[in-house]
Amino acid sequence: MSKTDVSADTGTAEHHKPTMSEQKKPSVWQRVQAGLPFLKTKKRIIIVLVVLVVIIGGGLAGLAALPSKKTEGSVDREPMTDDSFFYGLSPPVYPSPEMEGLGAWSDAFEKARDMVGEMTLEEKVSLTGGIRSSTGCAGLLPPIRRLRFPGMCLHDAGQGLRNTDFVNAYPAGIHVGASWNKPLARRRAKAMGSEFRTKGVNVLLGPSIGPMGRVVSGGRNWESFSVDPYLTGVFVHETVNGVQEEGVLTSVKHFIANEQETNRLQKLPREAVSSNVDDKTMHEFYLWPFQDAVHAGSANIMCSYQRINNSYGCQNSKTMNGLLKDELGFQGWVVSDWDAQHAGVAAALAGMDVAMPVPHDYWGDTLVEAVRNGSVPESRVTDMVTRVIASWYRLNQDHEDFPPPGAGMPMNVQEPHAIVDARNTSSRGVLRDGAVEGHVLVKNANGALPLGRPRLLSLFGYSATSARGMNFIGGGFVDPLAFGAYPVGWEEVEAGFTMKEDYDQDWSAIGLGGTMISGGGSGAPSPSTLISPFEAIKAQADGDGTALLWDFERGDPGVHAESDACLVFGNVWASESYDRPALYDDYTDGLILNVASRCNNTMVVLHNAGPRLVDQWIEHSNVTAVLFAHLPGQDSGNALVSILYGGANPSGKLPYTVARNESDYAHLAGPDVLLPDDRVHANFPQSNFSEGVYVDYRHFDRQGIEPRFAFGFGLSYTSFAFGNLTVQASRNASTTAPYPTGPLGEGGPQDLWAVLARVSADVRNTGAVAGHEVAQLYVGIPGGPVRQLRGFDKPFVEAGESAAVEFELTRRDLSVWDVGAQKWHLQNGTYGVWVGSSSRDLPLEGEFAIQN
Ligand code: BGC
Repeated sequence: MSKTDVSADTGTAEHHKPTMSEQKKPSVWQRVQAGLPFLKTKKRIIIVLVVLVVIIGGGLAGLAALPSKKTEGSVDREPMTDDSFFYGLSPPVYPSPEMEGLGAWSDAFEKARDMVGEMTLEEKVSLTGGIRSSTGCAGLLPPIRRLRFPGMCLHDAGQGLRNTDFVNAYPAGIHVGASWNKPLARRRAKAMGSEFRTKGVNVLLGPSIGPMGRVVSGGRNWESFSVDPYLTGVFVHETVNGVQEEGVLTSVKHFIANEQETNRLQKLPREAVSSNVDDKTMHEFYLWPFQDAVHAGSANIMCSYQRINNSYGCQNSKTMNGLLKDELGFQGWVVSDWDAQHAGVAAALAGMDVAMPVPHDYWGDTLVEAVRNGSVPESRVTDMVTRVIASWYRLNQDHEDFPPPGAGMPMNVQEPHAIVDARNTSSRGVLRDGAVEGHVLVKNANGALPLGRPRLLSLFGYSATSARGMNFIGGGFVDPLAFGAYPVGWEEVEAGFTMKEDYDQDWSAIGLGGTMISGGGSGAPSPSTLISPFEAIKAQADGDGTALLWDFERGDPGVHAESDACLVFGNVWASESYDRPALYDDYTDGLILNVASRCNNTMVVLHNAGPRLVDQWIEHSNVTAVLFAHLPGQDSGNALVSILYGGANPSGKLPYTVARNESDYAHLAGPDVLLPDDRVHANFPQSNFSEGVYVDYRHFDRQGIEPRFAFGFGLSYTSFAFGNLTVQASRNASTTAPYPTGPLGEGGPQDLWAVLARVSADVRNTGAVAGHEVAQLYVGIPGGPVRQLRGFDKPFVEAGESAAVEFELTRRDLSVWDVGAQKWHLQNGTYGVWVGSSSRDLPLEGEFAIQN
């Protein structure tokens, strides 16, 4: 075994799996044992005591070395070169739970067992890693022809197909989050799923639900839905269902606590950053949406690049064996992020099932040998492959009508190839509605919008037009279009991906090269067409007889004195592989202020791949309207025009908080970096999630900080009033037992989803035009954050009319994670209930009690 075969959570010899029955009626000691399932025999207790002595000794030294912003005196300490003192920080959980065919998986499981039973060891191992292929698929599992298994194509991503032709670009994850619209998210997912299927893509590498946005400037936050676990959980549920209904697996990613791009990859001698997360925070915040993904039946989960409690995501037995396969009863397969595998035996035993894009020397022949020499039980390999084949059956990909893997995915579109047009005219509606509903109007002074029929509009800013090029250049990997790089140029994105050491430019805060419909990296779709804001406004102005002036070059443009309105288009660039350099940029702020100084009806449109500060100009009296336009996908311009001119009434709400100042986000404004005086950790960067669940609005509420724009905030062209709150909680002692008692199903004990309370309210449209309102329900759980989102609904209400909204609160919605019991705990006590239009505008207030 090579050195890299040893994971930081060694203990691979431990083969104990705690069962539910072992955890009944626990004494204190049993509870300790339940929390530490290792402690089941005297021999093990002695081992633990010995290990504890060693750990406490080493640990004290280690603790002294552990990073903190206050680390002092480490200047002269030599960098650690060995990670052994981190061992055990991520508890060992072995053996890897085998697939059991839970619930809806039973048929597929039986069929898979039959097929896998026919395979030789070598054949099984061949399905645990990708092969280099002649398709454009990001990953390809090989076929086993004699068993009529054709292989599988895995491809990006969560916003539509990447790096190929004849596909649509849907709104990005953050845009879906901002829509707060469940049925719309489902429609989008179905439309995407159908395109992936048509192209012969078996596995959609998405949706991304991590990063969630702990780090405000995170480079990939835009791929995910929201910084709130509940909101994210709802959208991952809809997305998994929608995509999988079309017969395509979702690969929900990146598992887990993958919150920053800085140091996400290993670059020896430096290891990847470690996300250090405590058990309670893990369950209540980061695992929460993954639980929804598993509950929805996601057939695949992607393990992440970085380390978790100092053990790599793709060899972490606590997260994969423990959280995912044991606690959540995950029945699908875990695929590595691309080249995220760092071990052979350790990764296999820790629960990783498939290595992508290839297993290098870790698996393949080495895995065959590891089985033969007893390092890995063959049953583990059988389980890996059973999970793969079962998912293929479960999604009906064994049917004749599923295209061969990669059928519509040419390796290089510049070479002659048969065209597979995946677009469907029935998707046009969801492309448009989706683009419209993720726009969030945050300022509209004196009804400046909608525009009506202006005589003269002046347009400014680099983000109004399409980029100058939208073409495949290199084909294959080295293509700017394949990575959505046009707004900033290929050099920068490539430098990020390749961790180029001699790249001496600053990372871009904005995409000066043109409008943004997505961020950069593997999450960027490749639109077949793109209507920019300028193109759509031009067409509208032409029809209306509106005169247009524009200047997209200057930062200090002249302004025609008779302009009815001046529209300024800026953006916020973010990309995979690096984090944003700042939460605002001086160039765009200067542009806005310059225009505002000459135009008393200045409207700002920001295509933003994450939260952006606006205090530099938001209160300027000439800035009359501001739209966070997020990342709308290819229908960007059309959607914007319908909002600007009142064809659509804005209905988006922020899926994050906009602060007045960076420091309001505490230290989370930027990624955790190695502090200059912390030489000790130079090779082992640490990111301590010491804020727990107090991220975004939970932090603002706890600290009493006034946000600039609260989580959940967004304006409409009409106004709404809330009334008639009713709260009904279950009084049935058996349903309000302190811990769930139901059988394990996908996602955990199934009674976690039992409804324990119902809340209803009326939403009245008190304005003059019809529109959607997002009614939001927040709950105050005893001992937890002031309020947490636990329900939302988005009725369409005619002017003067009312709509009823109803929310169901499940056991999980009301529980906290009990670290001792290792279960969700429904506490006795009084629970606050609030309903309103944002996390800070909650006119309805009530409460209910849980007695158990
Ligand atoms: C990304 C994944 C992506 C994969 C395949 C990795 O760099 O982190 O999100 O799915 O590449 O392209």
